[in-house]
Amino acid sequence: MKMLDHIEELSWAYWKSQVIFAGVELGVFDLLTERSKSSIETAQELGTNPRATEMLLNALVSLGLLKETNGKYENKAYTSEYLVRGRPLYQGERIHHMHNLWDRWARLQEAVRTGKSVVGDTVTDPKRLEDFMASMHSSGTKKVRLIVKKFSLKSFKNLLDLGGGPGVYSIEFVRANPGLTATVFDLADNIEVAKRCIKEAGLEDRVLTRVGNCLEVGLGHEEYDVVFVSNLVHIYAPETNIGILKKCYEALESGGKVVIHDFLLDSSGAGPLFPALFSLCMLLGTCEGASYGKKDLETWLLKAGFKRPRAVRLDKDSGLVIGEKQ
Ligand SMILES: C[S@@+](CC[C@H](N)C(=O)[O-])C[C@H]1O[C@@H](n2cnc3c(N)ncnc32)[C@H](O)[C@@H]1O
Repeated sequence: MKMLDHIEELSWAYWKSQVIFAGVELGVFDLLTERSKSSIETAQELGTNPRATEMLLNALVSLGLLKETNGKYENKAYTSEYLVRGRPLYQGERIHHMHNLWDRWARLQEAVRTGKSVVGDTVTDPKRLEDFMASMHSSGTKKVRLIVKKFSLKSFKNLLDLGGGPGVYSIEFVRANPGLTATVFDLADNIEVAKRCIKEAGLEDRVLTRVGNCLEVGLGHEEYDVVFVSNLVHIYAPETNIGILKKCYEALESGGKVVIHDFLLDSSGAGPLFPALFSLCMLLGTCEGASYGKKDLETWLLKAGFKRPRAVRLDKDSGLVIGEKQ
């Protein structure tokens, strides 16, 4: 019976996702943070239908995101921390990005039949690109704290942040390491967003930018003592990644390190759950991407010329794999 419940729950689990998407995108959590409100007050302020709003609020209570007392609804403490716009660890953009992936996930069967992405591998719609960068920003602000705790950058002076997106990692790395300068390398449109974020952080003198496509151009010759490659290798096939890592090797001084940060599959390839599902997400959205395991990354590092590859687990889903240039 327990397993039957499990199967049944898997078939409607997407209802839960739609409830959090609606909560975030209608602004429910922004409204219920200062004081509790009835469903009628909530509907009035959101401009939504009162009966339907009550249903949504009750579903959010049952998902553990709101609490209800005497007909009044308010955020739980953690909901206010992560789901109220403007809070330092706000995850709304990340959740909105997950919603944006909805249409492609609905075409999973097609992708499995053909083995091909259902959308090509570049985001061309400017609004979607902006949403994607905002999502990277919210996931980055959370992840970078873990990395700073588990891997010290104190001994480095010059970091290349390859595929650095909005630059969140570089910004936090230089904040935590006064002797460090970073360069965010990315495609032209993304560098525009990174420049904005760096300016907002007031770090234009210590976080620089470089526009380029790392598949087409080199990354320089012995210019950096550390190259950080975060969430880039899952976009590409193993041979492409070995080519990128060879360019990282060339860009590093001897004694320098490359630090790959990504989701890591275990040796079975079937877990943890998020990286296993993320592999399908890459099938849907890229030409050749997938999730990989620590062994894959270590093998590529050795093939690219790096020595002594080692892994540092960050959480159950992700880790760092580090190689040295001797
Ligand atoms: C998934 S995002 C990761 C962003 C950031 N490093 C992070 O961990 O949040 C991948 C980034 O790599 C960039 N990228 C992908 N292919 C690239 C290429 N060939 N050359 C330069 N940047 C690339 C994308 O534009 C995007 O900003």
